Amino acid sequence: MDSKTLIDWSKREFHHLPWRKKRSLYGTLVSEIMLQQTTVSTVRGKFENFLKRFPTLESLASASEEEVCIEWKGLGYYRRARLLRAAAISLVKDCNGEFPNHVSELKKLSGIGDYTASALVAIGMDQAELAIDANIERVIARVFLLGEEKGPKLHKKVRELFINQELLSDGVSARDFNEALMDLGRVYCQARRAECLQCPLSQICGARMSGEPLAFPRESDNKMKNEKLSATLVRVLTLNSRGEVYGVRRGEGEWLAGQIELPTYVLSTNDEKFNRYPKWEGKLPSELWRLKSTITKYSFDNIVVRLETDAREFEAWPIDAKQVNFSSVTLKILRKLTLV
Ligand code: ADE
Repeated sequence: MDSKTLIDWSKREFHHLPWRKKRSLYGTLVSEIMLQQTTVSTVRGKFENFLKRFPTLESLASASEEEVCIEWKGLGYYRRARLLRAAAISLVKDCNGEFPNHVSELKKLSGIGDYTASALVAIGMDQAELAIDANIERVIARVFLLGEEKGPKLHKKVRELFINQELLSDGVSARDFNEALMDLGRVYCQARRAECLQCPLSQICGARMSGEPLAFPRESDNKMKNEKLSATLVRVLTLNSRGEVYGVRRGEGEWLAGQIELPTYVLSTNDEKFNRYPKWEGKLPSELWRLKSTITKYSFDNIVVRLETDAREFEAWPIDAKQVNFSSVTLKILRKLTLV
């Protein structure tokens, strides 16, 4: 695949991304885990501060989970913060702080899966490898007009093309190639919008020539994934005489594990199986504020109410976002009500 135009475009437009300016394997580990479920623009605002707070693998490995999660605020999907810390601990303990340079060795470490291992080798070490994320998968499916439906079959097909040396030409940097494909998928070759006129690969793209670029990759037939699940939640704000707020620390294996949420109840939902929070029984006190939030495939309408009693069963927490790992929604509520 002739990728020079693509790489020239990517370097010209995106060389300034903070994780590309000064490279280290530790920096790549952090940025790639951040970028897995969070947009480039959000990660841009968080990456450098995170590295200031935890400048080395060792500093991250010796931090508590609480400290790492507090610094992760704003990035969401906190499981990743815990995995990142786990990876730092195993790199320090099991590998003397050195990164193994094979995907198979990296994958043996806790916290490092297929994608992160490939990204470390391709982007961090600039060795022939492809870190197949959704953007790369989509771009390759379009350029090569792949008929496989989105999911494991398409992933396997893209990997095959890479192994058969149909993607990365001799002499091309794997790092530049991976990053340029990711940039293209993010900027011009999006899932629901293809700006083929601007695209540096338009001359060789099968999907563009077909006239229907958005028809690739084929959607999986499994429509279940598109089902929208929602719930209305009641978030109960109660303060004690010391100005602390009552909250619940979510346990291991629960949603938002390790984070503190206001006592939360379900008022209504379209998902019969939804049992993350107890049902709200009885009359609703008057509403202080309402906000929307999402977690995985759920969207929530959150009704904030204030209650002065009935909080004894919950723990009281100082309202200090630097010390207490409040969930994002909890923080938004505390901030809005000017308690933080
Ligand atoms: N998405 C995942 N990794 C990325 C990277 N290194 N640059 C841009 N987008 C990405």
